[in-house]
Amino acid sequence: MTRHSVYYESEGADRVTRRANRRAKHDVPARPRPSAIEGESGTGRGRPLRVDTHRATTRVLRVAYPFLAEGGLGADGTYIGSDVFSGGSFVYDPWELYQRRVITNPNVLLAGVIGSGKSSTAKALITRSLALGHKAYVPCDPKGEWTAVAEAMGGATIKLGPGLATRLNPLDAGRKPATVQADEWQRIAWSRRRALLGTLAESTLGRPLAAVEHTALDLALDTVSSQVTTPTIPDVVVALFTPDSAFAQRAGLRTTNLTDDGREVAHAIRRLVHGDLSGMFDGPSTTEFDPTLPMVTLDSSWLGSGGNDEALRLTLACASSWLEAAVADPAGGNRYIVYDEGWRVMRDAALLRRMQEQWKLSRAWGVSNILIVHRLSDLAAVGDLGSEARALAEGLLADCSTRIMLRQEPDQLSRTASLLGLTDVEIATIAKLPKGRALWRLPNRSFVVQLVRHAREVELFDTDARM
Ligand SMILES: Nc1ncnc2c1ncn2[C@@H]1O[C@H](COP(=O)(O)OP(=O)(O)OP(=O)(O)O)[C@@H](O)[C@H]1O
Ligand SMILES: [Mg+2]
Repeated sequence: MTRHSVYYESEGADRVTRRANRRAKHDVPARPRPSAIEGESGTGRGRPLRVDTHRATTRVLRVAYPFLAEGGLGADGTYIGSDVFSGGSFVYDPWELYQRRVITNPNVLLAGVIGSGKSSTAKALITRSLALGHKAYVPCDPKGEWTAVAEAMGGATIKLGPGLATRLNPLDAGRKPATVQADEWQRIAWSRRRALLGTLAESTLGRPLAAVEHTALDLALDTVSSQVTTPTIPDVVVALFTPDSAFAQRAGLRTTNLTDDGREVAHAIRRLVHGDLSGMFDGPSTTEFDPTLPMVTLDSSWLGSGGNDEALRLTLACASSWLEAAVADPAGGNRYIVYDEGWRVMRDAALLRRMQEQWKLSRAWGVSNILIVHRLSDLAAVGDLGSEARALAEGLLADCSTRIMLRQEPDQLSRTASLLGLTDVEIATIAKLPKGRALWRLPNRSFVVQLVRHAREVELFDTDARM
């Protein structure tokens, strides 16, 4: 069959469809009639061709026209916008898709150039999901742009910064889940506190702790836990500088040796008690985390925008440990945890290790982590090839079953393609995506989706106002 005749065939098919539609409208029964294809010679003598009427369900037809009849991800979930190829509605819900085994974990990676609509996409997904009973916590919001969103949704924002009245005790145990016994809860609280202190020390020192430093930290925490119900960071610093002789003896150590072993750790943790972070984490909490609220965000824009990423990382470590007490309750329902501007906190192996542990537990806790970065090379930029930080950051990508790619710069395309296994067509698509349009890449499936926003959302999600 030549190109010419194919052209006529499709024209003819269109006419047949229009006729069928007219008949359906006026309820006229179809007349059996052969389709005609015009001749190729242009002589006007058409050669008749009989084509049997073919009817099929959309389920069968979508094999022939996959782009037009794409079934999307089903109808259960949160409306995001329109599927650009099929024109249909696109809905998404990580927990629903996990149950249906479409994705292997509920975590999401969102990447796109500056101002491409990353935060807007996350805000739309989350605010619309609240109606389904999901909740959202945003522990990393360095621009403070989620505050208005949380207020509009009936949630709360905790503003943290030097000189502000709010103080969080990252060593708070949080509310005990009803299913956990008291002594088990004590053990959980101890290990959570210990993990946080280790992260803070390693993050500030910029190196893993030595074995003797781990021992000093263990004993300091044991000491303060035996003295008070809820220890604070200054309590631990004091116990490190002046170890308790009874605890040292019980561990078979001399107090003087223990003082030497714990000195660097003590100075590292002291960073949170003095200097630019003082007043934020150095005493009992002045506010309580209310897990019943639909949304809680932590506004760290008050830390200053002077690129103080170290303060931001320490704040995130403390705040996420504080949130974890609530998040770790498996009976707490489905919750999103958003790391907006996530690339700013990813240059730290200790914090990445913590994030990875939380990622791994996401299914057990009913949590979907949403990590927002500019480009996938942000993940590689955290360390040299072969470094622990780099392996951890790239591991986070592997633990995100859903990757939402907004527009990428041309120099990022081949890396993005190889990391995500994209086809040439998909790569050509993400190079040209307009604002708010993204490639939603799930295992074995992908969709190009235009975010559709309500006028109220346009106003609420606007980040151009300051421009
Ligand atoms: N679908 C859309 N159509 C038109 N404009 C949009 C769309 N989505 C977002 N915008 C606008 O683009 C601006 C930037 O959006 P947003 O803050 O979500 O981008 P971003 O990728 O998070 O930016 P940044 O890299 O600075 O964090 C906002 O003012 C927003 O209102
Ligand atoms: Mg943003």
